[in-house]
Amino acid sequence: MKVVLGVSGGIAAYKACELLRLFTESGHEVRVVPTRDALRFVGEPTWAALSGNPVTTEVWENVHEVPHVRIGQNADLVIVAPATADVLAKAAQGLTGDLLTTTLLTARCPVVFAPAMHTEMWDHPATRANVATLRERGALVIDPASGRLTGADTGPGRLPDPEEIFEVCRRVLRGAPRDLAGRRVVISAGGTREAIDPVRFIGNRSSGLQGYALARTAVARGAEVTLIAANVTLPDPAGVALVRVESTEQLREAVLSASEDADAVVMAAAVADFRPVTRATSKIKKTSDDPEAIRLTKNPDILAELGVRRTRAGNGATPAVIVGFAAETEDVLANGQAKLARKGCDLLVVNQVGERLAFGTPDNAATILVAGGEPVEVPRGPKEDLADALWSLVAPRLAG
Ligand code: CTP
Repeated sequence: MKVVLGVSGGIAAYKACELLRLFTESGHEVRVVPTRDALRFVGEPTWAALSGNPVTTEVWENVHEVPHVRIGQNADLVIVAPATADVLAKAAQGLTGDLLTTTLLTARCPVVFAPAMHTEMWDHPATRANVATLRERGALVIDPASGRLTGADTGPGRLPDPEEIFEVCRRVLRGAPRDLAGRRVVISAGGTREAIDPVRFIGNRSSGLQGYALARTAVARGAEVTLIAANVTLPDPAGVALVRVESTEQLREAVLSASEDADAVVMAAAVADFRPVTRATSKIKKTSDDPEAIRLTKNPDILAELGVRRTRAGNGATPAVIVGFAAETEDVLANGQAKLARKGCDLLVVNQVGERLAFGTPDNAATILVAGGEPVEVPRGPKEDLADALWSLVAPRLAG
């Protein structure tokens, strides 16, 4: 496909070289359109060599090809990374003056901005308003990551990793609908750990792959995503607010607090059903031949609590959609239906646990049970496909 990579003048311009490679290596034809300031960070020969295409910032070169119109018209995707406060402001105002801004005005394909700037600039009411305008018009603006910025500063404003920006763009190029725009979703991922002593825990095999796939897909569909990750070692998805937790109690607090003003909550995390009654404050030694049994107590059921809280709050209470996951090995549908009713959720993704399915694998197969509706079968395929199938059931339930 034809991709325009707009690069504006921020220090993160060097990361756009990696993004460019990801596009070209996956077979896309890329035109790089930098701003004049971007060339102060990374020069024209780098962009030309990596893209295999001519590179200019101006509308006055090769005028017979009418580049200020054609590049935008012919694109399947325009991604601006990094997008500075200046380019966001110009795009929001519809200003032109160079090849990138004219391209943004002529493009009729999906447009994605990956802003990067200092926290003060990102938080400034002018930038907030520009971002809101661009989103209202249908552009996808990926929230920057939090972390180290230029110099000694840290905070929101970092360009997400190029691989993760690419993941968003890949989904947009696949035709991800923008049906979650303006929606707040909360996703839990991974598996909780219950401490036995300072070095040991009771845990499970959940890798977080399915929850992370749900988060990446929701971002590409326009949602504002809070991802609550229990012991996940995967790369941070672009555009999400990431909260890291370990235990079920921490997960519960994070989920309940993030869910207060959420439109949808998806509990993809594998939550420990039990935890040790006591946690030894120092490492348990192997001095005794007859060690003490570890006594367990039941953990709170977060999913059920979300349902109860919503019922108590009455008509129109949020989250409008609550989604649970269940791993079943036998009587899959009957057990799933009973669980859906017991936990008071709207959708329940019933995984068939088996060879090369579910835990730690890239593929999944599932039946999505629908409260008051027919089940939806999702055939074996990448976890991304299950994520898409699930959001396609969630989005219309939020539309009302
Ligand atoms: N869940 C939760 N809080 C718990 C346990 C589970 O929120 N303490 C959520 C999970 O995130 C998941 C769903 O509930 O969405 C799974 O329910 P669970 O009853 O634990 O299902 P299974 O693991 O299939 O357990 P079992 O069949 O043993 O009841």
